[in-house]
Amino acid sequence: MKILAVESSCDETAVAVVEDGRKALSDEIFSQVALHEIYGGVVPEIAARSHLEVVTLLADRALEKAGIGRGDIDAVACTYAPGLIGAVLVGVNFAKSAALALGVPLIPVHHIRGHIAANYLAFPELEPPFLCLAISGGNTMLADVRGYTDMHVLGRTRDDAAGECFDKSARVMGLGYPGGKPIDDLSKQGDDHAYDLPRPAVNGSNPYDMSFSGLKTAVVNIAHHAEQTGESLDKAGLAASLCRAVSESLVSRTMAAAAELGYDHIAVAGGVAANSRIRADFEAACQKAGKKLFVPPLRLCGDNAAMIGAQGYYEFLAGHTAGSDLNAYATRAI
Ligand code: KG4
Repeated sequence: MKILAVESSCDETAVAVVEDGRKALSDEIFSQVALHEIYGGVVPEIAARSHLEVVTLLADRALEKAGIGRGDIDAVACTYAPGLIGAVLVGVNFAKSAALALGVPLIPVHHIRGHIAANYLAFPELEPPFLCLAISGGNTMLADVRGYTDMHVLGRTRDDAAGECFDKSARVMGLGYPGGKPIDDLSKQGDDHAYDLPRPAVNGSNPYDMSFSGLKTAVVNIAHHAEQTGESLDKAGLAASLCRAVSESLVSRTMAAAAELGYDHIAVAGGVAANSRIRADFEAACQKAGKKLFVPPLRLCGDNAAMIGAQGYYEFLAGHTAGSDLNAYATRAI
């Protein structure tokens, strides 16, 4: 089954053709980073307008790269939530029109389910059940993936996402947007004990819930203090200390959940899963605990449409299709 998949939830427009949920025949991505960079973050209206400009072109290219025609498409899948509402709407409306014109089913896909499914493209042997930590720019959650379409949230961030913490910290350190990669790169030259940063904790609640706004504020305060007093800021040390703090908080909770639920398979997904410290710490922790780790290659960590096509296949098998009244949602439970 060949699915034409569309992703437009934030600042990447992407269209892919995915076969039977496991093989990307094409995966076209247009990154809007250059459009938003000057503002230091994503401007929703600009994001939506840019999606509209390129989505048709990307779809044509995705078909061409896959070596197929419109008549070969069996279904159209799209991210319908969560995301910037104007941005998600563009992808949803494009997918609705394409499904209607081609006379094929329309499959709505939850963006985080898509991130988790990136692992199905990278690891043909991976099947639920497993534990998955989904870490991106807008979401951070630990999910008990009991089936392809049966997921339960064990814990989530109570405030900022891990990616938001990286992005805002990078902004105050003058490292540009998006900030995760520059912080990751710089951290390799720094001492990860240079700054004593707080470990995010959420008192009296679910042990798997997380918090990153306190950590972000600590980094902002350190940077502002250095600026106001004229003291030099050890940016590499701060970047390394931040990566360590974020990683420790994510890895400890994930490993505790895996032990409690008895999972031997642990997956990590989302843009922040590209972080080298987090990847290395998970590898070490899983090796020590005798667990098998699944982390997609870097190109499948960030937003892409192949992951939407992968999850779309399993949503279709479960009978989860939609009509032309499908709406887009800024927030939606997984
Ligand atoms: O999954 P994604 O592309 O978009 C969302 O669905 O949100 O994630 C984007 C996030 C941004 O916050 C970006 O700074 C972060 O992923 N990111 C990283 C790295 N590469 C991207 N964070 C830490 N280390 C990285 N190497």
